[in-house]
Amino acid sequence: MILVTGAAGKTGRAVIRALVARGEAVRALVHRPEQGRLVEEVGAQEVVVGEMRLQESMDRAAQGTRAIYHICPNVHPEEVAIGQTAIAAARAAGVEHFVYHSVLHPQIEAMPHHWLKMRVEEQLFQSGLNYTILQPAAYMQNVLAQWEHVLEQGIYAVPYSAETRLGMVDLEDVAEAAAIVLTEPGHEGATYELAGSEVETAAEALTQTEVAAILSQQLGRPVRAEALPLETWEKWARESGLGDYQVETLVKMFRYYERHGFWGNPRVLGWLLGRPPTTFAAFVEQVAQERLGPGTE
Ligand SMILES: NC(=O)c1ccc[n+]([C@@H]2O[C@H](COP(=O)([O-])OP(=O)(O)OC[C@H]3O[C@@H](n4cnc5c(N)ncnc54)[C@H](OP(=O)(O)O)[C@@H]3O)[C@@H](O)[C@H]2O)c1
Repeated sequence: MILVTGAAGKTGRAVIRALVARGEAVRALVHRPEQGRLVEEVGAQEVVVGEMRLQESMDRAAQGTRAIYHICPNVHPEEVAIGQTAIAAARAAGVEHFVYHSVLHPQIEAMPHHWLKMRVEEQLFQSGLNYTILQPAAYMQNVLAQWEHVLEQGIYAVPYSAETRLGMVDLEDVAEAAAIVLTEPGHEGATYELAGSEVETAAEALTQTEVAAILSQQLGRPVRAEALPLETWEKWARESGLGDYQVETLVKMFRYYERHGFWGNPRVLGWLLGRPPTTFAAFVEQVAQERLGPGTE
């Protein structure tokens, strides 16, 4: 039995699907009872409802498991304490393997949610556990939040300059890599950067103008990138219920992206998967076929 925490989120459900596809039994830790259905739909065998900040919940979820895939909720101010709780539960349950879903470049202090993940990684080094750390780039799936807007308005709006270079990774590739690491031997003690790529050289991550061009090409209609003023994004984010910590942290992330770009090298992910990582063009083509039917172009 493998425990997946943060299981009802998009990452958790993708990892469960990938583990179940490999014949693994999964226990899903969810936050609210109604989320049980979401993880059962993707094949979770057992569901535990619990609060990740509470040791009792984590201990209950970890009991009797062989391995833990720990996913902290996105941009959570208590990521370090939650990580410590998960590590303590793993130790108490005597799990063989602890895999932590971190992020690409956790060393970046200018992005506080990255920095917190680095602190959890540090705790793992000292935990005595057999651990593996996965560091994914930004997901291609994040673009889907704008799918309807792109189709209706032909505008891909981002809260940074359209020339900002970002290397994205397909969450399905990340989930497959997670399942490989959890089910095949030899990954203990490893830290893997998981980045996708559009081109052979990672140094050529896509600008947002190029992202829009790929959307345009794959959808067969004009799409242009538009830089959204940060104040406009902030107003929208607060109206949609994001808290102060999340808004302030994401604003810092957008500023960092614009100043420096954000990407990694795809070779490690390619090596783990035994094939090149999915390109953004292939990702959009697949989504378009699923959502709009064949012959989109
Ligand atoms: N998005 C990206 O591009 C990207 C890239 C690299 C790494 N990551 C990392 O991936 C991780 C997961 O992101 P995600 O978007 O898949 O997660 P998410 O949607 O935030 O999902 C996490 C799940 O955890 C639950 N949860 C929240 N607070 C909880 C608590 N106190 N106790 C128990 N469960 C709780 C949430 O339920 P509720 O709905 O009840 O809150 C949700 O079902 C994050 O750590 C993020 O930093 C993301």
